[in-house]
Amino acid sequence: MATHVEGLTDEVYLPPPHVAEEAHCSSMQQYDKLYQQSIEEPEAFWSRIAEQFYWQEQPAGPFCDFNFDASRGRIFIEWMKGAKTNMCYNCLDRHVENGRGDQVAFYWEGNEPADTARLTYSQLLTRVQRFGGVLHRLGVRSGDRVAIYMPMIPELLVAMLACARIGAVHSIVFAGYSADALADRILDARCRIALTADGVWRGNKLIRLKEITDRALELCTERGHRVERVVVVRHLPRLHHQTPSTAVGDQNSAQTTPQYDPQAGWDADRDVWWEDAVSDAPERCDVQWVDAEHPLFMLYTSGSTGKPKGVLHTTAGYMLYVATTFKYTFDYHPDDVYWCTADIGWITGHSYVTYGPMLNGATSVMFEGTPFYPTGDRMWQIIDKYAVTKFYTAPTAIRALMRLGDDLVLRHSRQSLKVLGSVGEPINPEAWLWYHRVVGGGRCAVVDTFWQTETGGHVLTPLPGATPTKPGSACRPFFGVQPALLDENGVEIAGEGEGYLVFRRPWPGIMRTVYGNHQRFETTYFKKFNGFYCTGDGARRDADGYLWVTGRIDDMLNVSGHLISTAQIESALIEHPAVAETAVVAAPHSVKGEGVYCFVTTKDGRPWTEQLQKELVLKVRERIAPFAAPDYLQYAPGLPKTRSGKIMRRVLRKIAQNDRDLGDVSTMADSSVIDLLFQHRCQHLK
Ligand code: WTA
Repeated sequence: MATHVEGLTDEVYLPPPHVAEEAHCSSMQQYDKLYQQSIEEPEAFWSRIAEQFYWQEQPAGPFCDFNFDASRGRIFIEWMKGAKTNMCYNCLDRHVENGRGDQVAFYWEGNEPADTARLTYSQLLTRVQRFGGVLHRLGVRSGDRVAIYMPMIPELLVAMLACARIGAVHSIVFAGYSADALADRILDARCRIALTADGVWRGNKLIRLKEITDRALELCTERGHRVERVVVVRHLPRLHHQTPSTAVGDQNSAQTTPQYDPQAGWDADRDVWWEDAVSDAPERCDVQWVDAEHPLFMLYTSGSTGKPKGVLHTTAGYMLYVATTFKYTFDYHPDDVYWCTADIGWITGHSYVTYGPMLNGATSVMFEGTPFYPTGDRMWQIIDKYAVTKFYTAPTAIRALMRLGDDLVLRHSRQSLKVLGSVGEPINPEAWLWYHRVVGGGRCAVVDTFWQTETGGHVLTPLPGATPTKPGSACRPFFGVQPALLDENGVEIAGEGEGYLVFRRPWPGIMRTVYGNHQRFETTYFKKFNGFYCTGDGARRDADGYLWVTGRIDDMLNVSGHLISTAQIESALIEHPAVAETAVVAAPHSVKGEGVYCFVTTKDGRPWTEQLQKELVLKVRERIAPFAAPDYLQYAPGLPKTRSGKIMRRVLRKIAQNDRDLGDVSTMADSSVIDLLFQHRCQHLK
């Protein structure tokens, strides 16, 4: 129940006493003290944390050095420069050497409930060393980029840790992306090696990863870049139970043929099965000690120009930050069983499936499937099966499961749960309350964690044993993070108010650059408000000092927690020969949070047919990914524009929502189109 607390205006949900009792941070006084220290003496704060990790050499210069002020020159961020360490060593060897080798690192749960595996820390270390040897043999050297396009299987963990072990930079591409999207990312990073699997079942759907990879590599060759070697995990035949072939379909091209031969496009000079490659690999693979600022990985995120940005994270700072946020945000203890449902292909998977938990020596669940297969209570089954204590998922999943009704949840015990996390998009209070009341049975702390691919780890979040929470608010900054709200002119808003969410100084986990384009890094994140890192999100501060993230304020959509730029969808649509012009905006969607709403003007009065609409959906699926597909397509006889020809998306957003209060339209060149657009709008929002 929400309660009133002295000193706070709104009613709040207090930390559950049994969580607070054992918590690393168990009161707001303690939080304030730690926070204060992290801001006033960052070096003392973070260097104490650094002592828990292994350093081959100590830092040579200042613990943290940075410049956020473009007028003083290049923007840069460095933590512990000159120190030498290795991420893989800290995630694996360190625990094994401390006698924790037999502890389970991951319980793997396949798409089919019958497919399971468990991996201890020492088993993982053995496999990582062998695969590190394979990478060496394939000619991968420190600093080389390795493309990884794999499903949620243990080899994905092995692959990323093996890269880290030898100093190579992994570039993981979510296995739901299309061949085109994969090719773009491989080309941008100039990867010479790619790692994939034959395929994966997601529910009843077979995703033909090898076929998609073949196509992507063809596209790369056409564009002058050859990927030299591909290692392929043979995953499908080892599954206990093959999902019936009736519903087989390629995510990419919606093919229906049930036959799939992953070897159809096999190139014997290029491709090798994973198991063959590791069979004669050496058992040991030495750790490559790298500089604190050596790149650890890159991960692409949408950019408002439509071209994805390769967000680059480096070693030491990222390590300190994900380990610390994991420990405090989930209040991690050694007897926990932790489960983050995110795919490793996203930042949440990088930081809170792999690195954060492993740095803490945690035991986690890794899940290959979907929440709805074979039944809508799969999540709750898994929670009971492994006695999960800390659970981390996305609002879009919460809303979808909420729709299935409480019964499916209530028939499972869930008594083990203590902390429930949310990530990826603003969580609406209704979903928050359902998560708290039904899933958590009112006994758990809910932590709404705000962060980005760029921030590396949580930057705004409650702490489960300390923070009185408000449904829908990400509450307070994490240690070392100094948020500010600015108005359009860059003037800081003190106290209550709403504005651009920015950060004043770097925390250890912030990105260091956009791969291959430092200027874009400076322009995207630091130009708008000099001296600040700009998130691209808006936020409101309430009378109690709590922060409420209101969502993107740039041309970015957040669909089911996936960031997609409107420009990227528009450029896919415009490729269709019947399309003259198009504009894409966000429209509310009851499950996905935001849906993709497209306004399309056809060429030379071409008819607006169902066939055309189908082709447009397919275009987006092929160019980007199925998750970016339009939810709504509306015929637009014309688009509202300013006199200088800029499309007025603000007005289009209103039309999509059927809101006639258009605000100031004095700059619109020709407003006669507005009525027509209202007439043609998609009547029912989902
Ligand atoms: C949004 C995901 C509100 C936000 C970790 C951000 C959120 C973008 C929250 C980053 C939250 C993420 N509340 N909004 N708790 N978490 N977002 O890079 O718009 O995939 O800028 O990183 O998701 O998405 P990304």
